[in-house]
Parts: sequence; structure tokens; C-alpha cells
Amino acid sequence: MSVSAVLKAYWPYVKSQKGWVFLSYFGACVGVLAGVYGPWLYKALVDSITNNLNDPSKADLLRILLTILIVNLIGWLGYRIGGFVSSYVQPIIMAEMDRKNLDNLLGHSYQFFTNSFAGSLLRKIQRFSRSFERIMDETEWNLFPLFITIAVAFGGLYLRNAILAWSTLGFVCVVILVNVLFSKWKLKYDLQRAEKDTEVSGALADVIGNSVNVKLFSGYAFEKNKFFSVTEELRKLQNLTWYLGEANFALQALLGCFLEFGMMYLAVSYWQKGLISVGDVILVQGYLIALIGRLWNVGRVMRNLYEAFSDAQEMVEILDTPHGVKDAKGAKQLKITQGKIEFVKASFNYNQTREVLKDFELSVEPGERVALVGPSGAGKSTIVKLLLRFYDLDGGKIFIDGQDVKKVTQISLRDQIALVPQDPFLFHRSVRDNIRYGRRDASDQEVEEAAKLAHCHEFIEKLPNGYETFVGERGIKLSGGERQRVAIARAILANAPILVLDEATSSLDSESEAMIQDALRNLMKNKTVLVIAHRLSTIMQMDRIVVVEDGRAVDQGSHQQLLAREGLYQKLWTIQAGGFIS
Ligand SMILES: Nc1ncnc2c1ncn2[C@@H]1O[C@H](COP(=O)(O)OP(=O)(O)OP(=O)(O)O)[C@@H](O)[C@H]1O
Ligand SMILES: [Mg+2]
Repeated sequence: MSVSAVLKAYWPYVKSQKGWVFLSYFGACVGVLAGVYGPWLYKALVDSITNNLNDPSKADLLRILLTILIVNLIGWLGYRIGGFVSSYVQPIIMAEMDRKNLDNLLGHSYQFFTNSFAGSLLRKIQRFSRSFERIMDETEWNLFPLFITIAVAFGGLYLRNAILAWSTLGFVCVVILVNVLFSKWKLKYDLQRAEKDTEVSGALADVIGNSVNVKLFSGYAFEKNKFFSVTEELRKLQNLTWYLGEANFALQALLGCFLEFGMMYLAVSYWQKGLISVGDVILVQGYLIALIGRLWNVGRVMRNLYEAFSDAQEMVEILDTPHGVKDAKGAKQLKITQGKIEFVKASFNYNQTREVLKDFELSVEPGERVALVGPSGAGKSTIVKLLLRFYDLDGGKIFIDGQDVKKVTQISLRDQIALVPQDPFLFHRSVRDNIRYGRRDASDQEVEEAAKLAHCHEFIEKLPNGYETFVGERGIKLSGGERQRVAIARAILANAPILVLDEATSSLDSESEAMIQDALRNLMKNKTVLVIAHRLSTIMQMDRIVVVEDGRAVDQGSHQQLLAREGLYQKLWTIQAGGFIS
């Protein structure tokens, strides 16, 4: 764990609010200082009483009592300033952190998201800002006050009696040392407990996410037992770490008892020898109470700080990861004049094990409609992801109207390409907002027109709240075919010069598909179109068919031309045509 890396990540946020943050700490310090001044005043009060036992009228009691009142009021004011200002400034800083972190996260590549779990990313973002709150609270209300109390108690006692001061300091050091060593030793169990805790959350998420499978395969008893054993392991670790915590408390409290006895014994014997006054005995007692009160917390404060720093660290690691796919320096906007697409010797692999594309060559003329066909896993969807620059090529180039996709801004590139993906996901928002995502300034009327063209309108009208119906997480409340039609409507609305359909109609029955073909034909007019399809009805309408096998364009031509050759296309066609006939 790197404390400095976390502090460095927090610094810009603190800096932007440094006046308020400082004021908050300052207020808390004033409060603590006023508090530790108390024993000194009580010493003065007692001294004044004992010195004037014979002539009480001379005792300057009212002045001292008023001073105590004023000091307490100053302390009150300091604490209130500290409290209110941190209540004001912490939410500002935390909100800013969440915003910037989401910003940073969304800048990460497609690959980054395919490699991480949404749930854990979400937790990391939230923990980063919550850790800030914990660190600020612990330092402001516990750690700094502890140091101030130690320093003031030592100084105050030193003025009266050096031996008393040094022995107090010695004891404080022993308690802190015991705590540090104990917490360090206990850390391995704390980490095990935290790991188990995460495992329990993961197990819960897995079972809840798969509730359908549990029902389907009658896994109720099985899951119950499985969850029982994970929670049982967590319980054991929880018990162990909490017992250890209690043991630490016990040890500390015992040390506290002996400290109090030892110090008071010293103080009383010094008084007997006439070395210190009765007020000084009160002073010692006052500082002892203040110190023991603060030290009591040391173990908990340290554990909290440790946890907060290690929680924040997880997000810092993400923040330190460079964005995989970045806009080139001085990247220009993509300007589409005609819509020509070229793949030149494009090579790519997801990981080092297998090349997915090998010297892939493809040239799509402006306004041309090209179908990519080929067996599953051939690399068709990958070609689309590369065109959209979800990944960077390992070799070769991709041009749109002569501009390298790597050298234009990602936003301008994706703005000009409308994609209907193989498995479209929707936001958990209204159907209307989902369609409007294609062009966010579209009017309600435009949204509905697009929905009609994509044949969504029919089913949307039947939804309980029509266009305002929420579609569920990732669009789960719609059928596969309905989701695809929403995605098509979205693409219709986007109306980009390049259109890519990745099996856009695969989940539709023949009748709906025929209806949509009609809409798609309209949509394809005057656009460069890349279609990945298995259905011959779709493929046959294209200007040209490119056969992809093992990441290479192995053949191309019209349906008739390809059929005439005895190649992969003919094989695919025979299988499917055969399948249709039987
Ligand atoms: N994110 C990924 N990480 C690693 N490998 C991947 C990833 N996505 C795809 N692949 C692999 O790359 C190969 C090509 O996948 P791709 O999705 O391009 O195939 P496809 O031609 O679209 O197939 P289908 O017709 O089944 O959709 C497959 O072998 C697949 O396992
Ligand atoms: Mg695919």
C-alpha cells in the first residue's frame, strides 16, 4: 500500500478547496487546544483555593471561573467551525471525486471494461470518495487531537515537574508502540476477513444474478448450503478479529489502570515532599484523563486509516492505468465526404495466443453495401470493433475517406458510424430515452418516427407506460427481438453516413425481419453499409459479399459469382438452403 500515492491522488481535490479544508482543521485544533487548556485552569483554581484557605475573600475564584467559561466557549466555537465546515466541504470534494472518476473510467478502452466487473468498478469509485471522508475525519477528530494532547500535556507537566512529564510521555509511547505492533500482527487476520467479506458479496451477487438458474435447476438447497459455508467462514474470521480487538482493549485498559496509579503515586509523593502543589496533582490527573481518553481510540483509528488508504488505493491503481485507446496528439475531426472504408493489411489479436485478423484487406466504396459472411469466430465482429477503434490494430491501417482512424478523434469517428450490435444492451431508462440515445437532441416526434420505421412502435404502444416504460437493467424486460428493433431505431435516428449492422436482425422472426428489411433499405440509401449476416435473404440484397475465414478475406463477389465457385460460400449456402428446404 502506498500512502503517498493516495495522498497525491487526493491532493488536487483538497487544493481546490484548501481554504475550507484548512479552516475545518483549524477549528478542530482550536477546540482541542481549548480542551487541553482546561486542566491548567483547574490547577489554578485549586491552587487559588488552597493558598487562601485562611482568607477565602482573597481567592481570585470568579476570574478563574470566567476564564474557564471563556475558554470552553472558544473550544465550543472551534469545534462547531470544524464540524460545520467539514460538513460543508466534504460532500463537495466527494461529489467532485465521483464525477472525475467516472469521467476517467469512461475514457478507458473497451478492453478495460471487458476485463473488469462492473460491480467492482462501482465499488472502487464509491470507496475512493468515502475513504477520503474517513481519512479526513480520523485525522481531524482523532489523530491530530491525539498529537496535540500529547504535546500540550507534556509541555504543561514539564513546566511543573520534568520527571512527571517524561514518565507520562514514556507511557504514551509504550501504549502507541503496543498498538502499532499489535495492529501490524493482527493485520493478516484483518485482510483475511476483508477477503472473505468480498467473497460473500461475490457469492451473493452470483446467486442473485443467476436466480433464474437456481429456479430452473432446483438449486435452492444447494445454494443455501453453499452460502452457509461461506458465511460460516466469514463468521469465524469476524469472531477472531473482534476477539483480538477486545484483547487489545483489555491490555490497554490494564496499562491505563497502572499508569493512573503510578502517576498519581508519583504526584502525591512529590506533593508530600513539597515539590508540587495540590493544583499540580489536579493537573496530572486532568492530563491523564485526557490522554487515556485519546489513547483508547488509537488502535481503532489506525485500523480505520489503514482500511481507508487501502480502499482508496484500488481506485488509484485504475487512475494510474493509462487509457488503452487514446486520441492521438492533435487528432483532427473525421470528415466524411464520400464514405470509403479501407482495411489495409490489418492484423489484430485480443491476446498473444491467437491472431484473430491476419493481413485483412477490405475496401468498401462510397455508398456500397457489403456483406461479411463466414463461420462463427471468423473475426467478423472484431472487424467492426476495429473500424470503431474499440481496439488498436497490431499491424496495418484502417482508413475512412483516406483518414487513418487512429489519427482522428474517437468522438468524431463514432459519431459518423451507426452500429446495430449483435447483442444490444439498453440503459435502464425509458424506451424513449434509449432510442433518443442515437441523437440526443431529437424531438419526441422524431423518436417516434424512427420507432415506426424500425417497427418498434407496435410493441412500445402495448407497454404499460408506452414510450415512458423503463426497460430494466440492460433492457432485460424486452425480448431479444424487441431490443434489436430499439437498437435499429436508435441507428435510424443517428442517421450517420456509415452504417454497420452486426447480425442486426438475427433475433427476429421471418415476418418481422421482412418488415424491417424494408426500413433498413430506406436507412441504407446513400450510405456506406457493412452488414454481418447469416441470413441469405439479407445477404443477397447487398452489392458485394466478402467471405471471411480465420481472420482473412478469402473470397468476394456477388451471390451468383460466389455460388459458381466451389468455395466456403457455396458450402455455407448449401447448408442453409438445405436447412430451409427440409
Ligand atoms: N474480448 C475478447 N477477448 C478475447 N478474445 C475474443 C474477444 N472477443 C472475441 N474474441 C475471439 O476472437 C475471435 C473472433 O471473434 P468475433 O466476435 O469477431 O467472431 P465473429 O466472426 O463475429 O463470430 P460470430 O459469427 O459467432 O459472431 C473468436 O475466436 C473469439 O473467441
Ligand atoms: Mg459476431
